[in-house]
Formats: sequence, structure tokens, C-alpha cells
Amino acid sequence: MKLSFLANIGLFSLAAGIALPNPAPKGHEYHPPGLFDSRSPCPGLNAMANHGYLPHSGKNIDIEAVRSGVAAAYNYESHVFDPAFEAAVNFKLTTTGNASTFNLADLAKHDTIEFDGSLSRNDFFFGDDNHFNPLIWWTTAERLGLHKPVLTEQDKYVTVETAAEARAARVKDAKLVNPTFNASAGQIGGSPATTALYLTTLWDDKAGAARKSWIRSFFEEERIPYLEGYSAATQSQKTSDFVFGLIGRINSVPV
Ligand code: HEM
Ligand SMILES: *[C@@H]1O[C@H](CO)[C@@H](O)[C@H](O)[C@H]1NC(C)=O
Ligand SMILES: *[C@@H]1O[C@H](CO)[C@@H](O)[C@H](O)[C@H]1NC(C)=O
Repeated sequence: MKLSFLANIGLFSLAAGIALPNPAPKGHEYHPPGLFDSRSPCPGLNAMANHGYLPHSGKNIDIEAVRSGVAAAYNYESHVFDPAFEAAVNFKLTTTGNASTFNLADLAKHDTIEFDGSLSRNDFFFGDDNHFNPLIWWTTAERLGLHKPVLTEQDKYVTVETAAEARAARVKDAKLVNPTFNASAGQIGGSPATTALYLTTLWDDKAGAARKSWIRSFFEEERIPYLEGYSAATQSQKTSDFVFGLIGRINSVPV
């Protein structure tokens, strides 16, 4: 399994001459969570914890840790997630005993930041809104074309349009099966925003789209895709303006 995966990468790079595997930066190798580590419904923060850009325990996260973490892990301008952090504080979802910090699992509290119709998590109604859910993700992955054979350069990327359609379709599915589906302000604003966030994080400037292999690693393993050629150093700096620009584009795709 591992070997054939690496062999694929090798052949791929030979054929295309790009996306060579990078080593993870020293001290930031991938370590999935242990039994007592705290993780969230957010693949972005979980991947940071898995690579030591946040405490690997996922506990007692403060705003400084998020600022330095998003800059080092993904080359975001360090204040981009201040509003998200402040939302967590204002919802008083923390269980740490310190109002200025939270444990990652605290973020799963439903109808605070967490909402129905997530791309890779089930709805709260069905019991677990926190962990990656392979069946839910399969529906999204299928719509993003993540498992389609790669025949052309274009086939390697997810466009804004495809991502917007996949997001809307997932929300539609959730509404159909969840009798308590709640189109809260969080859901309405948050769903396009989380799509904009994974696209921004895994964006390829030259392609003007996000690389499929990076999206798979990010969601399926909560792993920063160094193996698939990702490097924060070669990513252009990510700003709130860029994220809001993508939210606008996502919302203007007719679905
Ligand atoms: C303080 C910073 C952050 C907070 C408090 C936060 C919180 C959350 C929460 C509560 C969710 C669940 C929303 C839902 O129900 O779908 C979520 C989802 C998500 N977050 Fe974050 N997040 C933060 C930073 C980030 C970063 C840095 C990234 C990208 C690198 C990111 C990307 C995402 C994505 C793609 C989802 C959607 C997951 C899905 O739909 O399956 N977030 N985040
Ligand atoms: C609460 O957390 C903040 C941020 O890490 C820290 O500055 C502060 O000292 C903590 N307060 C207590 C009482 O531990
Ligand atoms: C969704 O549920 C939350 C919590 O029960 C409630 O505060 C909010 O008003 C609901 N939103 C809608 C649109 O029903």
C-alpha cells in the first residue's frame, strides 16, 4: 500500500516533472493523534496539531498559537484567523477553565461555530459532528472528482466552480436526511467560508485552482501534503482578502 503509493508519486513526477515530494520541516513531521489528544471538526487546525504547529495534544490553544501556527504551517498572514478565534471565545465553548484558550474538541459544540452540512463530518443529529466521516466525505470526494483518473493537467485540480457545486450538493443532502437541519447563520455563512478556506490553503497560483492530491491528504489524513509536493515556503502569502474573494466567487456560482 505505502510502496505503491510512493511508486505512483515517483512515476507521476517523472511524467509531469513537478510536485516532487518534500520532507516535512524538521520537528514538524506528521504524527496522527494519540488516544488522549484533542481534535476538532476543523481539518485545518487538526492538521496543524498533527504536525506540531499547534500543541500535539490539541489542548489549551491560545490566539498566539493559532497566529504563529497558521503562518508557519500554511503561510497565512498571522491575523487571518483572529475573528474565528474570537468567535470561539465569544461562544464560551471552552472547557479548559481559561476563557482565553480552548481544547480542539470544544469546537464541536453544535450551533456555535459548528454547523450542519459539513463536507467531511456528519450532522450533530446523527451523533458525531467532530470526527472525519469517510461516508460523508466519499460523497464530497466523488463530486470533487478526487478519484477520477488523471489524464490531463486540468484533471489534477479542483476549480472554484466544482468546489462550489460540491458544497451546495452536500448541504442539499444534509437537508434531505436530517430532520433537525438548522440553517443557522453559522451554516449559511460558514459553509461557503470553509470551502474558501481549503481552496485558499491548498491553492496553486499557476493553475488558479487547488490540487486534488493535496485536498485528499488534508481531509483524509489531516496531513499537510509535503509528500505530494506542498511547501508553505513556495505558497504565496494568504490573506483575508483572498479568502473573501473566493467566498464571493463561490457564492456567485449558480447551483
Ligand atoms: C482559530 C481558528 C479556527 C477555528 C476556531 C476553526 C473552527 C472550525 C470549526 C468549528 C469547524 C466546523 C464547521 C462545520 O461544522 O463544518 C471548522 C471547519 C473547517 N475549517 Fe476551521 N477553524 C479555524 C481555522 C482553520 C484553518 C487555519 C483552516 C485551513 C487551513 C480551516 C479550515 C476548515 C475547513 C476546510 C473546514 C470544513 C470541514 C468540513 O466541512 O468538513 N479552519 N473550522
Ligand atoms: C489563560 O491563557 C492566557 C493565554 O495563553 C494566558 O496568558 C493566561 O495567563 C492564562 N490565565 C491563567 C489564569 O492561567
Ligand atoms: C438553530 O438552532 C440554534 C440552537 O438551537 C438556534 O439558536 C437558532 O435560532 C436556530 N436557527 C434557526 C434558523 O432556526
